[in-house]
Amino acid sequence: MLQLATSFGVLLAFVSFAAAQSAVWGQCGGIGWTGATTCVSGSVCTYQNDYYSQCLPSTASATSVGTSTTSGTTSTVATTSTSSAPASTANIGLNVAAKAAGKLYLGSATDNPELTDTAYVAILSDSTEFGQITPGNSMKWDATEPSQGTFSFAGGDTVVNLAKANGQLVRGHNCVWHNQLPSWVSSGNFNATALASIVETHCSTIVSHWKGQMYSWDVINEPFNDDGTWRTDVFYNTLNTTYVSIALKAARAADPAAKLYINDYNIEGSGAKATAMLNLVKQLQADGVPIDGVGFQGHFIVGALPSTIQANLEAFTALGIEVAITELDIRMTLPATDALLAQQKKDYQTVISACKAVTGCIGVTIWDYTDKYSWVPSTFSGQGAACPWDANLLRKPAYDGIVAGFQS
Ligand code: G3I
Repeated sequence: MLQLATSFGVLLAFVSFAAAQSAVWGQCGGIGWTGATTCVSGSVCTYQNDYYSQCLPSTASATSVGTSTTSGTTSTVATTSTSSAPASTANIGLNVAAKAAGKLYLGSATDNPELTDTAYVAILSDSTEFGQITPGNSMKWDATEPSQGTFSFAGGDTVVNLAKANGQLVRGHNCVWHNQLPSWVSSGNFNATALASIVETHCSTIVSHWKGQMYSWDVINEPFNDDGTWRTDVFYNTLNTTYVSIALKAARAADPAAKLYINDYNIEGSGAKATAMLNLVKQLQADGVPIDGVGFQGHFIVGALPSTIQANLEAFTALGIEVAITELDIRMTLPATDALLAQQKKDYQTVISACKAVTGCIGVTIWDYTDKYSWVPSTFSGQGAACPWDANLLRKPAYDGIVAGFQS
């Protein structure tokens, strides 16, 4: 009996000791941190910045994904495919660096399924790294109004509440887009009057739902083809260009404080598509339609950035609107090599420097901070490694490129 009690006591002591330690990937230090400052066996408390130290697996340079059991502690060790690459050495926090450079935020996209990944959420929630979040899918039309008049806000609410808890801004994404559009809209054969009302109701309803909680909205997403002609989706085909002003006016009425953006890709450098966007903004302004900003998505390829990013951003801010890099990632053909990662670091620095140099470029959002959840590999076969954190949630040289861009 005594022996049983002693064993139980030892077990209790072990449990309470274990509970006093942070889990792998958990926080273990930093200014304001009052939790555990030691890590469970198999991980090491590692300084990331003054505000955040993290328990990183001692085996983080292994070469496969697996589960390790050390001293009774089981942890999944996601490993890196870039173990020989130079690691990030900067220790400031991307959002801290952005703010020091006079920007409003450095942010990340996220998506609801990822929010069960506690290690991922710990980094996303660190406001020294990210001052802004964009929901990658949960505010899109197929998520918010899957059938006419039936609205669903749960996924978006989850992201907004997370951002609120972390003191982070939210960019709403998006009201009107040809993609992820339910077939009741795209194939409904509505006439112009009916579709105008549908656009107005959709934008008004989703923007109203999050009234007062959003920094900005991508009211219109990707209206142009790469040659600068209008994308012939159901909105353009039925309403010509009027859907743009219908949506912008509805959004303004629904939340007067939210900045209203049009967002697109391949407009980061000058060219036909950027010119089309400039002309659209000028026309909207001439017509008295509310427009506050243009979002430059920034889905780039390593070593192939446009050479005119800064001048192009300035052409837009000269119209009196703000601009933001809204979906930045810089992909490469896999496998990632040290040379590609070094070029990627330079490319991130170049993009950030361009935004830094333009007063009206208010912030930069990465289209999810980690390769673990990047959209790239499933869309571009054989490509990936586009983000500043690798699939192991370890910082890549690109992280240092971002810091250097803000500090240049
Ligand atoms: O929701 C379904 C799920 O029910 C199903 O089981 C699963 C099977 O594949 O698919 C799920 O839908 C996926 C959706 O993301 C939600 O996860 C789609 O297949 C997938 O295509 C979709 O990809 C999104 C993509 O937009 C769609 O175009 C990406 O996550 C999202 O990051 C990406 O974001 C866009 C921006 O909105 C606009 N700019 C370009 C950017 C990258 O494509």
